[in-house]
Amino acid sequence: VTGTRVLAAGDHFLLTTLLREALRDELGDGCRVRELTLPWPAEPYRPVSEVDEASGDENRLIEALAGAEVAVTQFAPFTRKVFGRAPRLRLVVVSRGGPVNVNLEAATEHDVAVCHLPGRNADAVAEFSFGLTVATCRNLAAGHASLAGGGRWPGHFNQYGHAGMELSGATVGLVGYGAVGRRVGRLFTACGARVLAHDPYVADLEPGVIRVDALADLLAVSRIVSLHQRLTERTRGQIGAAEIGLMPAGSVLVNTARGAVLDYDALCDALDSGHLAGAGLDVYPVEPLPAGHRLLRTRNLVLTPHVAGCSRDVARRAARRCAAEVGRWARGGPLANCANPAVLEGTSVPEVS
Ligand SMILES: NC(=O)c1ccc[n+]([C@@H]2O[C@H](COP(=O)([O-])OP(=O)(O)OC[C@H]3O[C@@H](n4cnc5c(N)ncnc54)[C@H](O)[C@@H]3O)[C@@H](O)[C@H]2O)c1
Repeated sequence: VTGTRVLAAGDHFLLTTLLREALRDELGDGCRVRELTLPWPAEPYRPVSEVDEASGDENRLIEALAGAEVAVTQFAPFTRKVFGRAPRLRLVVVSRGGPVNVNLEAATEHDVAVCHLPGRNADAVAEFSFGLTVATCRNLAAGHASLAGGGRWPGHFNQYGHAGMELSGATVGLVGYGAVGRRVGRLFTACGARVLAHDPYVADLEPGVIRVDALADLLAVSRIVSLHQRLTERTRGQIGAAEIGLMPAGSVLVNTARGAVLDYDALCDALDSGHLAGAGLDVYPVEPLPAGHRLLRTRNLVLTPHVAGCSRDVARRAARRCAAEVGRWARGGPLANCANPAVLEGTSVPEVS
């Protein structure tokens, strides 16, 4: 453990200081921590060379990595070029559910183990999704906007036609029942909703949650549909005009998953026609949303700027979980979440001393 050389590449959410303190707590003062701070979220993440959702540039990362055996980051661009120029590197810990900013194939070829943190912000996203649903169903954001934007007391929210729907007794359909979907299900169940879930890859549902094998069957009966599936080739564009058309008139759609799972033009059409009563969105087809985008002009939307996963607890916990993974690696113990375990069968992990 003593002398382990680590690059802590933080940003303005997962602070470099949080990473440094967590590494010191885990490895002791003997570890040598070099620091780099990436520009996210002051600059949105973007594709860098062949990797996605990255922040900062390859050359500065290569410079900062000089001599490092371990790197800990949320968004640094670990591309083929970076692995080719960091010969001592043996471990990259990415504080995200999926390490999409790492070229996994290149990491494996260069004998670098890549670890990630599945479900790292699942509680934050679940609580936020639940809140976004309440805000969408009960005029919470619209009421605030009416009052704050001029102080006019808006009586129309008390008219029957504008009044919202309760979650208690509503049928809620979850598309995707992973770390987030499962937690969202618990929150809806607790307030008396009937919860359905569609996820072809999950067998164990919690008590009270009803499995629905065909997506169309779930959509046809859900007054609230909440999206929690991973973006894959199969889920890209999964919710389009036909799927929205299956939802009962007056229902609500919430998306905190990824923009590409939903056809936003079809969503705006359904809001304009009144088929959907409202929608709550945290993720978009393009981020940041360009000025003048149709979503910014469509009524009955509650919009938040991709913040569901951002709580201070997430940043602090992520720093500690990353440091714990580095500690396991440095002591030669088994890693908790390695995305390319084939590397560990080589000689890259130090012996227990
Ligand atoms: N808005 C935010 O800030 C934020 C933060 C974190 C995660 N997310 C997104 O939230 C979503 C859920 O995250 P998670 O941590 O629960 O991921 P997860 O991998 O634990 O769960 C995703 C689930 O999607 C399911 N799935 C895959 N293909 C499907 C299909 N065709 N139909 C239905 N389900 C399918 C998987 O089986 C899995 O259970 C992801 O899209 C993730 O990118 C958003």
